[in-house]
Order: sequence, then structure tokens, then C-alpha cells
Amino acid sequence: MEYFTSTSNVSRRATDCVIIGIYDKNIFGQGATQIDAASNGAIGKLVKSGDISTQVGKCAVLTNVSGVKASRIAVVGLGKSGALDVAKFRRAVAAAMSAIAQTKTRDILNSLTLESVVDANAYYLARHSVQAIGDSLYRFTQMKSGKKPAAMPLRKIGLSIAKRSDAAKVARGAEHADAIVTGMSLAKDLGNLPPNVCTPSYLGRTAQRLARENKKLQTRILNEAEMKRLGMHSLLSVTAGATEPGKLVVMQYKGAGSDKPVVLVGKGVTFDSGGISLKPGPGMDEMKYDMGGAASVIGTMATVAKLRLPINLTVVVPTVENMPSGDATRPSDIVKSMSGQTIEILNTDAEGRMILCDALTYSRRFKPAAIIDVATLTGACVIALGHHHTAVMSNNDELSASIVAAGKSSDDRSWPLPMGDEYTTQLDSNFADMANVGGRAGGAITAACFLGKFTDGMNWAHLDIAGTAWKSGKAKGSTGRPVPMLTEVLLTRCGALP
Ligand code: BES
Ligand code: MN
Ligand code: ZN
Repeated sequence: MEYFTSTSNVSRRATDCVIIGIYDKNIFGQGATQIDAASNGAIGKLVKSGDISTQVGKCAVLTNVSGVKASRIAVVGLGKSGALDVAKFRRAVAAAMSAIAQTKTRDILNSLTLESVVDANAYYLARHSVQAIGDSLYRFTQMKSGKKPAAMPLRKIGLSIAKRSDAAKVARGAEHADAIVTGMSLAKDLGNLPPNVCTPSYLGRTAQRLARENKKLQTRILNEAEMKRLGMHSLLSVTAGATEPGKLVVMQYKGAGSDKPVVLVGKGVTFDSGGISLKPGPGMDEMKYDMGGAASVIGTMATVAKLRLPINLTVVVPTVENMPSGDATRPSDIVKSMSGQTIEILNTDAEGRMILCDALTYSRRFKPAAIIDVATLTGACVIALGHHHTAVMSNNDELSASIVAAGKSSDDRSWPLPMGDEYTTQLDSNFADMANVGGRAGGAITAACFLGKFTDGMNWAHLDIAGTAWKSGKAKGSTGRPVPMLTEVLLTRCGALP
């Protein structure tokens, strides 16, 4: 994709499509004002006739408007004037994209970047424009046979700016968003692929391919024998019932010399049947998305490598299938984790924490400046926060606050949940150092407290993305979250934000 900035009057720019907006009470946005003036009041007339809605998410497409060089005008609703926030801004851009989805649009000029948006400067408006466009262009067609529907041939995205001095910031915003879209698309593909294709080995091969494409990136893959020698019996207990071999994928990106790295750990359960504690049949298919944490940290690595960020980033992905069989782990089995602590497995469906704890212990060798694990860990998290916020739990309030702030500015939102000894005691076991489940109450928190037993002394946060990694129903598919938030954390840490 190519990007450009434009200070010219939007009516005078030759493009396949210009996006303009109108607020409630028929208040015109900047682009709408310019087009209306150039077209002898064409927009005003349509508003009067009721052909255009000012509701966010609505879009009308006009063609052949005289006095305007663009061949199409996408008129989107912006809602209440003065109340346009980033979420509405992105929905407005998405509405324009779906209205022109079937067209042969090759280039777009977005004039909405001229609007004032709550808590967002020119850099962020560029980012959210490019990200919303990239999001709506995503299609997953690789498993369909026969003729695939033609994608929109979009090659060029223009962003209107009020003053030349914004050009550099806007260009940077577009560049960052372009890389975020790349990382999100990779994460979405990995999530959407079926579990008979996206196996632990497939995740490993994907990581190796990224390393081949980037000189600053190295990938190493540990097999089950190597993990056994390291004492990762907790991780191995999950893969015991599976025929597909488990892996530990380690990616190291070096962009900042000898700095301590940020370590991202992603849960990579490529299918979670529950094991012997078998899940109910309905909806079990969605457990192909149980590698969403892995997908998002690999996607974030792709973004960081593409941007060549001046940071050291290490990604660790414990990846397994959780299957029942004669070799599978039983409820009541006790295993010794790499940390030396023993775990009584009371429920084989609480497998995410079993692989993450060994990956967290393994990660100590990198002496992380911060370590963040990302996991579709608990159904309880979906009950607590629904599908809009990722849950953040941490042993460091500063780290937690920086993640929540990054979620806000990247509009990939997160919200903190508490931790504490009173929750940790729910994991007490009569037979081992801890149990792997702590009862129904506060299930997302007790899962974090379990992980907390393996992160002593590290600057650690845990993200539960069970509610945000994918969508169910008609729009079923991977969201690519939280690649934007993780990237934002890293952009902030390495000072790459304007
Ligand atoms: N992968 C699931 C969590 C999950 C369930 C995410 C539904 C999204 C939607 C995880 O491995 C799991 O099964 N967790 C159990 C934990 C319980 C046994 C303590 C759960 O949430 O039921
Ligand atoms: Mn499970
Ligand atoms: Zn799981």
C-alpha cells in the first residue's frame, strides 16, 4: 500500500473515492463543506431529501457529482458534533469501506482526518484511518476452493491534513498502522486456520519464516525431548494425550544492542478439547482460537520487525494440542513444573496456565525488562468484561497502567482486574504445592494468581484475551487483537511515538 498526505481542497483531488462526513443536525465536516461548495450545494440537497444519515456506521455513496474531481463520494455519518471519538471515527471509516467494498476503487482520499476527534492528534487519526481500512480489507479465503471473490484493488490511501507541518507525523502514523495491519492480518490468519493445519509445528514454521525475512530476527524451536530435559513437566502434561508434538517457539529480535528485552509469552493451544475434562460439544469448534495469544505475540513480532523498532523483543510461545487419549493426563495427576513447584491437576481443561507457567520460568533466562503473557485463558474473563476489554492483571501497578493507557490510545482497550493473596489461597492443594484450579469465583483472577506463583521478582503482566481474540456468530473470525495494544506498549517504550 502507498500513502500520501494532501493539503488541497478535497473537491479538486482526482481520486476513485473521497470520504467525507456529516454530523447530526446536518453540521458538515471539513471535507463535506468543501465538496458542497464546489458542487453547488449537492450535499445539502441530499441531506434535505433524507438520502443521507448522520448516524455513525451509515454511509451513502454518490457518483458523478459535478464540480468534484473524485469519481465517488462516500458520505458517512459522524453522530453528535463535538463528540467524535476514536471508536466512532474508526466505525465511520469502516462504514465507507463496506459501502465501496464491491467497487473497483484503487485509491482513496480520507478527509475525516481533518475533523477534531476527542483525545486524538493528527498522528493517531492517520493510524486509525489506515488501520480501519486495513481491517476492512482483510479476507480469509485460503481454505476455499474454486474461484475466490476478487479483492478491492486498493493501492493508495490519501489522508487530508490541515497544515503541511503535520505531514511527517501523519506519514509516521500511516507507516505504523501499515505494520500493525500486517501483524494483525498474520494473527488473524493463524487464528482462522483450522487446527488440522495450524498445529504447533505450523506455528513454529511461521516463526522460522519470519526470521528468514528479517536479519534482526532469530527463531529457535525446542522439541519435547529438549523441554523434558529442562524439566517442563507441566507443559508436557498438556501435550501427553496428543499425537501432534508440542513445541516451544522462541523468537528474538535485536534492535537495541544489549538492552534488556521485553518478553511476550503467548498461549498457543492449537486446539483445546479440554482433555479428559472434556468440553461440551456445542461451540467446541471455537477452541481452534485457543492459540490467539500466540498469534498476537507472533503478529506483534512481525509488526516490530517490519518497523525495525529500536527495541529488543523476545517472543516465547508454548504450543500444544489439548487432547484426550489413553496417554492423556488425568484429573488428580501431580506434576513438577520447571520452577520445581508441584501442581495437582484437578481439571485438565485448565491447561493454558500449565503451559504458560513453564514458559514464564524459561523466560527468566532473558532477564526481561518486562514480561507480558497473552492468553485466551478463562471463560470467567468473558463473564467479567465481555467482548470489549482485554483483562490486565499484574504484580506492578505502573506496568498495568502503561498497558491500559496503550489500550486506550490504540483503541484496543483493556481494563485491570485485581490480584491478591486472598485469591491465591483458592489454589491451595492438600497434596501438591498448588492446584491448577481455584473454583468458579473470580476465575480469571485465580488463573492470574496461579501464573503469579511463577513470576516472583519479574516485572510481569498477564492479559486475558478470552473475550477479545475472536468473534462468534455471523461475523465469526479472529480479531487480531491485542496486536495494536502490544505494539503501542512497545512504541511507547522505545520512544517511537511523535
Ligand atoms: N481456553 C479455555 C478458556 C476459554 C473458554 C476461552 C471459552 C474462551 C472461551 C481454557 O483453557 C479453559 O478451558 N478454561 C477453563 C478453566 C476452568 C477449568 C478453571 C474455563 O474457563 O472454563
Ligand atoms: Mn481449557
Ligand atoms: Zn484453553
